[in-house]
This record gives sequence, C-alpha cells and structure tokens, in this order.
Amino acid sequence: RSVLRDELPGAEVMVISNREPYIHNLEDGKVMLQRPASGLVTALEPIMRACGGTWIAHGSGSADQSMVDENDHLQVPPEAPAYTLRRLWLSDEEQDGYYYGFANEGMWPLCHIAFVRPTFRASDWEQYVAVNRKFADAIIAEARTPNPVVLVQDYHFALLPKMVRERLPEATIITFWHIPWPNPEVFSICPWKEEILSGLLGSSILGFHTQFHCINFLDSVDRFLESHIDREHSTVRAGNSTTLVRPYPISIEWPPTALASQPPADECCESVRRKYGIPIGTKLAVGVERFDYTKGIADRFHAVGSLLEAHPEWIGRFTLLQVAAPTRSRLAAYRETQVEAETAAAAVNERFGRNGWVPIILVPKHHEPEDVFTLFRAADVCLVSSLHDGMNLVAKEFVASRDDEDGVLVLSTFAGASRELQEALIVNPYDIRSMGEALHMGLSMPAEQRRERMRLMREMVSEHNIYFWAGRMLLDAARMRKRRNIEYSIE
Ligand code: F6P
Repeated sequence: RSVLRDELPGAEVMVISNREPYIHNLEDGKVMLQRPASGLVTALEPIMRACGGTWIAHGSGSADQSMVDENDHLQVPPEAPAYTLRRLWLSDEEQDGYYYGFANEGMWPLCHIAFVRPTFRASDWEQYVAVNRKFADAIIAEARTPNPVVLVQDYHFALLPKMVRERLPEATIITFWHIPWPNPEVFSICPWKEEILSGLLGSSILGFHTQFHCINFLDSVDRFLESHIDREHSTVRAGNSTTLVRPYPISIEWPPTALASQPPADECCESVRRKYGIPIGTKLAVGVERFDYTKGIADRFHAVGSLLEAHPEWIGRFTLLQVAAPTRSRLAAYRETQVEAETAAAAVNERFGRNGWVPIILVPKHHEPEDVFTLFRAADVCLVSSLHDGMNLVAKEFVASRDDEDGVLVLSTFAGASRELQEALIVNPYDIRSMGEALHMGLSMPAEQRRERMRLMREMVSEHNIYFWAGRMLLDAARMRKRRNIEYSIE
C-alpha cells in the first residue's frame, strides 16, 4: 500500500466518479448509509482509505445537502474517517440527460456488445457537456495545489480530462475507463466521437482493463483524430499533450474488508440454506449482479434449464440463488431485462420444480458487501455469465471470499477477468448447452481439483490486487512527472 504515497510523495489525490462510495439515505428520520453495487467503488474505495484525499461524486441519496455542512464535505468512512467526500447535486434535467441519457443510453450500449441499440440525443449531449463542466469547476475549486493527481473514473466523464488540463496544465490526470472500448466501426456511431476522443486525450494516462481495449482506442484515434500515435510506446500526441494508453486490469482489496466479519464457510453454508429454504446437503450456485442487460442473467437461467434436462440427477439436489440489485430502472431496457429474467426463472421453476423445491431463487434486491460475501462462502459454484464486461469484480470477490480454498468459478469468456482467472471454467454465455455442461462439471468436480484451481486463482488475485493496480498507474505517472521536470530543466 505504501507505493501509493511513496511514488508521489506529498501529491494531492482527487478521485472523480459519478457513483459515490457511501450513499446517505433518510429512513424514519435517521441517516442510513448504503454501499452501492459498483465495481468502481469496490476498487477505488480501499485506495482512498489508504492514501486520503478528496473524492468528488454525484450525490444520490435521499439525505441531501441540507443534512450535512453547507459545502457538502463529509469525512468518510464514518467509523474511521480517512478522506473527504464532496458531493455534487444534479437537477432532474441534468440527471436525465447526462446519466440516464448520454452515459447509459448512449455510451454504455455503444461500448458493450449486448445488441442494445445506442441512443444519442443532442439534448442529452448538452447535459453531458454541462455536467462534465460542473465537475471540472468542482475540481478547480477543491484543488489546493497546481499539480494534483486527478483520478477520473469512467464513461461519465470523457470530456473532463481536457477541461481540467486547460485549467490545471500541471495536473497529473489519470483516467480509467471501467467498461470495454469498441472497435472504430462501432465507435463511429457516436455523433460526438471527435469530442470524446480529444476530451480523453487531455489525460496524462488513459487506462483500460485489457490490451484489446487499448488497441481499439488507438485504432479509433487513428481513424478519427489528427494525432501522432507511437504504437511501440503506446502514446498519443494530440495538440501539445501526450497521453500514455495502457492496460491496467483492475482488481480488489486483498484481503477484502468484508471478509473480516465472516463466520467459517460451513456456517455460511448452513445459514444461507436455512434463510432461503434450500435443503441442507444439496448443491448451491450463486449469481450476484446489478440487473443489467450486459450480465446475461436470463441466459444463465436457461443454462440451469439445460443442466436439469441433460442431467436430471440434479433435480431436487441443486439450486441457483441469484441476487440482483435493481439499477437504472428509469430506462426501459433495464426494466425489460428484469422482466425477461423473471420470466426465464419462472419457466425453469415451473418445468422442473417439485415438492416445494425450485431450481432458481431470484432475489431482486440490493445486498451489502458482507451479505454478498456470506453467499459466496456458502456456494459450491459462482456463476458469472456476462455477455460483455470490462473486468467483472464479482469473479475476483468470489475468489477472495474463499479462504477455505473451495468453490468453483464458472466465468464468461467475455468478461475481462477471464484473462487472469484461467483456472475458472470458462464459458460462452451465448452457448446455453455448454454453459449447462460447465455447471454440471463444476457441481461434480472432485475436491482436490477444486482446491488446486482455487489456490491458483487466489494467488493471482492476492498478487494483482487493487494496490498493485493503483501502484502501476502511479508509478507510470511518477515517471512522467519526473521526465517532465527534466524536460523543463533542459528548456
Ligand atoms: O463498473 C462499471 C460501472 O458502470 C461503474 O461505472 C458504476 O459505478 C457501476 O458500473 C454501477 O453502475 P451505476 O453507477 O450506474 O449504478
């Protein structure tokens, strides 16, 4: 962890994201905290706890500005304050255009291969520009030094790096894109492609999860922007700024905080089965996601149907417990995803359920990290069947939760995590029958093989943890800062 501070001693660190790490809700007159279902927050929060600084995010809870000090600066986490959370409040119009509209009906389907048509509206774009400017103003207002390290997160803020660069030319701007980057043909659908590219190229460093996404980005720049690309060093020079474009596969805290309070795995097995009425002694698979159409939730339910059809010996002896947090529900595509999944679960349950037993239990509810970890520790199999996913931290959290070195991970080949977790059973979620077979294989796997695979995956995640991720980016940033100082001294 010390690399965070050692590499950039004295540097002011700021994180910018749409999603805030702690949502403050008002319940029965009391302020209650919720930790959001967000890979981005899972990854960045331990970093901020370790190195301190300011996190600027969109305030989304029902306990709004009036509940805290007038500048809306909160010290978090509440139990051991380590950094400042500065929340920005958005009007309904801003929220509709910037978040639901441009970010989630435009950029999200543009970047994920899930066959949902991206929708681009000029009015959404206007709000996206305005909200990016609002966050840029907040960065300038919060910055105490001329050269802070600004960590810009995700597709909500493609324009922010350039806006900040223009006003804080000495800042080190590290932008991380948490979702895939499409190929140039797909990217060309976006009516504001040049603005998006040149906005991102205000960054000192631009990170993606995989080399493949870096190549897609460089190819998009090559096609649509006047620039010099040095493919050998993976840099782009546009105007008078240079951006290093590199893969930094994101990860999780090791050991995760949520593990500390967990009972032994066999107690988790019992308590989860008791809670959901799953017969003791039968096998359990779990799925944990947001209700997003990229996650392939209905597809995995069909795979359960296929498993039970091909291997009827599992009827009555296996359950898939799927928890899914409702998300972005104002958008039709998300409401339809939930209906489609519920319909698929009901069909499989109707066909195979008997004597009070059902193969699929679907819980459409947000779960706090500790509860998710108990589910992971109770499971024989964790099923991640994303149709497309930048990384997928659920897969890494499952591995981190299993300090008993047991459990099988079934993982989509279209999640970035499949590059690193090669001992998982890798599946194509479009191939329902093979996904059913992978489930059968996972449920029948001998203990020694489960242990060997889990040990190797744990080794990988424990070494390539979130501090390693941040450390590599900050090391690259420190090198750039030193090189720039040398260049200045030569001039
Ligand atoms: O990790 C990708 C991501 O889109 C994050 O940006 C985001 O925090 C998370 O998924 C959940 O989405 P949302 O913040 O829109 O609920």
